[in-house]
Amino acid sequence: MPTESYRNILSHLQKENRLRSIPLPDPDAFKRLDLVSNDYLGLAQEADKYKAEFFRRFPDADFSSSASRLLSRKNDYHLQLEMLLEKLYRRPALLFNSGYHANVGIIQALAIPGTLFIADKLVHASAIDGLRLCGADYKRFAHNDLKKLSKLIKQNYEEYNRIIVVVESIYSMDGDIAPLKKLVELKKKYPKLLIYVDEAHAFGVRGDRGLGLCEELGIINKVDFIIGTLGKAAASAGAFVISSQLMKDYLLNCARSFIFSTAISPAQAAWSILMIEKIVGMSARRLHLKRLSSTFVKLLSDKANIESPSESQIVPVIIGDAGEALLFSRYLKEQGFDALAIRRPTVAAGSERIRFSLNALLEKDDIARLVSVIANYR
Ligand SMILES: Cc1ncc(COP(=O)(O)O)c(C=O)c1O
Repeated sequence: MPTESYRNILSHLQKENRLRSIPLPDPDAFKRLDLVSNDYLGLAQEADKYKAEFFRRFPDADFSSSASRLLSRKNDYHLQLEMLLEKLYRRPALLFNSGYHANVGIIQALAIPGTLFIADKLVHASAIDGLRLCGADYKRFAHNDLKKLSKLIKQNYEEYNRIIVVVESIYSMDGDIAPLKKLVELKKKYPKLLIYVDEAHAFGVRGDRGLGLCEELGIINKVDFIIGTLGKAAASAGAFVISSQLMKDYLLNCARSFIFSTAISPAQAAWSILMIEKIVGMSARRLHLKRLSSTFVKLLSDKANIESPSESQIVPVIIGDAGEALLFSRYLKEQGFDALAIRRPTVAAGSERIRFSLNALLEKDDIARLVSVIANYR
């Protein structure tokens, strides 16, 4: 049978507790606290509140753009969304259909001869796929280890015309942050360096107006490519890259995921405009989320003897075994908390974990209750 080998792979995944399935709608889900989704500001949970305003302001927004951005005539809201982003970042912005499209397409476009990518060991699968699928020259450096990165740059500097360092600002599985200020400093010593920062988990959450960690650190102008995604804190879908006019022109000509894919719908782009306008004014929520996150990390240490690497709203508790992580996740569900067991290949073998994803609608009491449930496990 030509498909037998695929069945064997599924059986193997099942044996290793790594088989995935799509969860069915659960009518009781509302009774539990959602610590799974990336709705960091709670905007998606409150979407109904904004629908009347959306339909009033954008009554003509279609549900299909019917073609790629380069061909579609229904481009108006996409352009308005890019203009809004350009006003906020004061740099050119280009939309992509998702963060996955952005990372795969941008990396593919940048991977011309003479380019070396050096990526943090923990960058997201979409960046790894970008590097692998286009056959780019790339190396990886130990997570957040600037010494190892500098060594790799030094060793390869003469051989390449440009070296592109790929990092995330907040890491999606560990919730820790990249040493971005020191990274951009490296450009002084190594002028052939370009810095690529994926802010998927920081857009909406960090910075005065929620533009991300680069805004918080005052380095928006020093980073060559800032990727933001709109499906997480922005409660929408899609992604964007902030770069120079030259790179915007280049990417819209050469990033295949931009050229050869139907654009997000005008309605989606319009909804993103509304959500970003809300995000800009949500400093109080950002502060609340920051405080909740540090309280959670501290209580985990004080009351449950668990040290988490987190420096953000993403707080992992490392379990170290896929089966155990699943059992722990089931226990949490029985206790009224939805939190996901993360297994291979999303994280390395031996670092299987529960990933707690906090949001700004949670209260301090929720966190205290969660910690006591965790501390009472077994
Ligand atoms: C760091 C990072 N980059 C990119 C993506 C992909 O973004 P999207 O879900 O918009 O495809 C994700 C998604 O989880 C992510 O965590």
